[in-house]
Amino acid sequence: MGKNILITGAAGFIGSHLVKEMLHFSEDTVYALDDMSGGCLENIEEFSETFSDRFIFQKIDICDYERLYAFIAENAITHIYHLAAIVSVQESMADPLRTGRVNLQGTLNLLEAARQAGAKRVVFSSSAAIYGDEKSMPKNENSPEKPVSPYGYEKMMAERYLKLYSSTYGVETVALRYFNVYGPGQRADSEYSGVISIFDTMLRQGKTPTIYGDGTQYRDFVYVQDVVKANIAAMNTDDISGEVICIGTGRKTTVNDIFATIAKKYGHTQPPKYEPARKGDVYGSLCDNGKMRKLLGLQELVNFEQGVMKI
Ligand code: UD1
Repeated sequence: MGKNILITGAAGFIGSHLVKEMLHFSEDTVYALDDMSGGCLENIEEFSETFSDRFIFQKIDICDYERLYAFIAENAITHIYHLAAIVSVQESMADPLRTGRVNLQGTLNLLEAARQAGAKRVVFSSSAAIYGDEKSMPKNENSPEKPVSPYGYEKMMAERYLKLYSSTYGVETVALRYFNVYGPGQRADSEYSGVISIFDTMLRQGKTPTIYGDGTQYRDFVYVQDVVKANIAAMNTDDISGEVICIGTGRKTTVNDIFATIAKKYGHTQPPKYEPARKGDVYGSLCDNGKMRKLLGLQELVNFEQGVMKI
């Protein structure tokens, strides 16, 4: 018998990949919610037909505690993947009240609803943005947390709530601190989108992308299917309640490298445009994924060049 699981942010980039995996490779009944502020219905609408007996979607905003609680309690949900968030660092710089409501208060709503409804475990999508511009590299779970954007603060505080809910209320929680996630289905249609999806879309259309700063800033890009695997392992591994686990590859890629790799993919020969660095942007981000390998057993990861070809 499968479990009753909930995926918040189910119509989003990572959420929809997770829904697909759960429907194809588990017997669980997938309850899915999204407020459709960043997600796309096309990401999940096929599942309502092909898996109509065990895929149930509702448009619910995690800021609406009453509806959130009712959805969890009425469907006897026991396991929750919490991915709903406003994912853009830049958007949090522009509108910290809105991102605070969703990313922090929304996560508290989710945890409290989980507690009241008697759910067993919550796996939370956190972020390497928590580290801010602190220079030591690579980052592990004990590296200093010095966020430089509201988004980073919101994820840091949300992680604190997770710890509290596991230690004080006995809701099992695991926080996965993603480095930069990329892959097919990531939106490219806003200035707040991730750099790889923007560059891939523009270069495919023969347009010239903009690099903010000198392009030597670097990130650790982890392929979305590896993030899905990490989520499932975090849900199913015993004795890891209260843990924070960094999810990345341990390999750095500069924004200039991204441009060069994707330009080569499409045979684009023009140089990029350069503009001043963005406020709130961190310079470097690189993951020490030792704990991920040890606790979650993820060994083989998709490398950047392979991943870019799959977009
Ligand atoms: C990303 C994620 C965030 C996640 C964090 C973890 C997105 C939208 N944001 O933030 O959810 O928590 O990683 O580390 O996926 N850039 C350009 N040109 C562009 C767009 C971006 O040069 O057109 C540069 C940015 O200035 C930045 C780098 O690319 O230096 C990465 O930016 P972005 O993809 O927005 O990701 P993060 O800010 O790292």
